[in-house]
Amino acid sequence: VPSSLSRKHLVAHRGACAYAPEHTLASYRLALEQRADFVEQDLAVTRDGALVSIHDLSLERTTNVAAVFPDRFVMDTTGAEPVRRWLVNDFTLEEIRQLDAGAWFDPSFLGARVPTFREAIDTVRGKAGIYPELKDPEFYRQRGIRVDQLFVEALRANGLLDDPETPVIAQSFDAQTLKQLAIDLPAVARVFLVEPTDIVLVDSPEKIREIGAWATGVAPNKAIVERLPDVVGWAHAAGLTVTPWTFRGSDHRGYPSVRVEMEKFLYGYGVDAVFTDNPDQFPRQE
Ligand code: G3P
Ligand code: CA
Repeated sequence: VPSSLSRKHLVAHRGACAYAPEHTLASYRLALEQRADFVEQDLAVTRDGALVSIHDLSLERTTNVAAVFPDRFVMDTTGAEPVRRWLVNDFTLEEIRQLDAGAWFDPSFLGARVPTFREAIDTVRGKAGIYPELKDPEFYRQRGIRVDQLFVEALRANGLLDDPETPVIAQSFDAQTLKQLAIDLPAVARVFLVEPTDIVLVDSPEKIREIGAWATGVAPNKAIVERLPDVVGWAHAAGLTVTPWTFRGSDHRGYPSVRVEMEKFLYGYGVDAVFTDNPDQFPRQE
C-alpha cells in the first residue's frame, strides 16, 4: 500500500451531505465534526472567473435561482425533454451570493450560501485535507476557460502548496486535466475518477500502470471494484491509491448498512479510502 495511506481515509462527499445541504459550509463543518480526513469540493467557475463549490454545472437543483433570477435560464435540449438550466458560468459571484443554497434540503438551513473555493479552504484548513474535483473541463474549455489554471492559481494564492496541515488531493474524470496538473503541480496528489461504464479504462495491470504515469490514485465507481476486485491489487502494485465512490446511507444496496458496505470495501477489497455522504458511519479500526 502506498506509504501516503498508512491507514484508511474518510473523504466526506460534498461534506456530510446526508445530513446538511451539499457543498455548504454547514455541510463541511459537520464533516469535520464527524472526523473526516478530507472534505470534498466540486468546483465550478462563475462568469467573472471565481471558483465556487457546487456539484452541478447549473444552479437550480441546489439553490433558489429560479425564484431570484426567473428569466436567466438557457434551454437544455440534450435530454429527452427540454429543461431550463441556470448555468453557474452565466452568473457573477455577486449574483450567486444572493442565492439560498440550504432551504431546498431543509428549512432549518435557510440562508446557507454557495461557498467560494476560498471559503471552503478557510473552513477546512488545518482541520482536514481538501479533495477538490475539477468538473466539466470540456464545457469550460469551449468557453475559453481553463479550470486547471484557475485551480493552480487558487492553491498558490491560498498557500496550499506548502501547508503540511492541509493535504490536497485533486480529482477529475478528465485525464487531460490531470496530465496538465502533473506538469504544473507535480507535488500535489492527483486522482483519476472512473465512471461505472468506463471499466475498460482500468481493466488490466498495463492500463493501470499507464495511468500511474500522470495520476497518483484511481477512484473507480464502487461497481467497478465489485466486478473487478483485482483492480485494487493492480493499482497498489503500480503505487496508486484506490478510493471508490460513493457510499450512502440512503442506498446501501444489498448490504445491511452503509457502515457494513464501507467495511467490506476497506477491509475486504482492501481499498485505501472511500467517499461517503455519511462520515459518521465510517468504520474505524482503532
Ligand atoms: O468525486 C467522486 C464522486 O463525487 C464523483 O461523483 O458526481 O458526486 O461528483 P460526483
Ligand atoms: Ca465529486
